[in-house]
Amino acid sequence: MTECMLKIENVVAGYGYGPDIIKNINLELNKGDIKCIIGPNGAGKSTVLKAIAGIIKPRNGSVVFNSDNGEINLSGMETYKIMKTGLCFIPQDRSLFGTLTVSENLTMAGYTLNDKHELKIRTEEVLETFPRLKERLSQYAGTMSGGEQQQLIFARAIILKPRVILIDEPSLGLAPAIVEQAFQHIENIASQGVSILLVEQNARRGLSSSNYGTVMDLGEIVFEKEANEVLNDDRIQELYLGKRKK
Ligand SMILES: Nc1ncnc2c1ncn2[C@@H]1O[C@H](COP(=O)(O)OP(=O)(O)OP(=O)(O)O)[C@@H](O)[C@H]1O
Ligand SMILES: [Mg+2]
Repeated sequence: MTECMLKIENVVAGYGYGPDIIKNINLELNKGDIKCIIGPNGAGKSTVLKAIAGIIKPRNGSVVFNSDNGEINLSGMETYKIMKTGLCFIPQDRSLFGTLTVSENLTMAGYTLNDKHELKIRTEEVLETFPRLKERLSQYAGTMSGGEQQQLIFARAIILKPRVILIDEPSLGLAPAIVEQAFQHIENIASQGVSILLVEQNARRGLSSSNYGTVMDLGEIVFEKEANEVLNDDRIQELYLGKRKK
């Protein structure tokens, strides 16, 4: 049976005293699903992720997360508290600590774990998943290759065993081969039952790794379908996937 992990209802949000940027957003994410939000620049895609992660506070609506400890309404909670509930946000700037080593980056990611023995076990687990990082524990993160940094970003994300991961533009600034690796990591993480909500400029690539596609425009969800239907829809191809009208 499908289990709903994140349920967003009627969320409205904006910045400071400015206008509403996203309006009445309704979105659900089931266990193990990968859902990709696409849409033109300025549509409000990143704003949706920021509103879920508490970077900006929703002005209306609810964000209900099915955490290890039952359902919690994240709306209005501080980001650092939200991150402790088992929801992880990988922002567009990726937020690696370039002047810290790989090992220090992993420790920072796991700092909310009070059980340091557990942190050690989990660090070993993520290093099994990403053996390249194991060879580079004392290297400064900022000096690693794009692909290695990408691995560290995912290792940091999974160390707290999140149930849901939000990812803004995983392909941004990466060479094509590294983009492929990034999506492979995303698919592997989801196959272990983690739900992933991602925003991706490279709509075709994002959708082809996803189960569902959500199209946003002007701060609203235009529609949502299975990802392969979105990929094959003539009208969407024309409007959002860069295919010219015949
Ligand atoms: N910090 C901010 N302060 C004020 N307005 C903002 C801020 N961040 C984004 N906006 C505005 O919110 C709107 C939606 O921006 P958002 O970043 O969510 O779009 P997006 O769909 O992610 O676009 P892109 O594809 O370019 O990343 C834009 O009009 C943008 O100018
Ligand atoms: Mg964006």
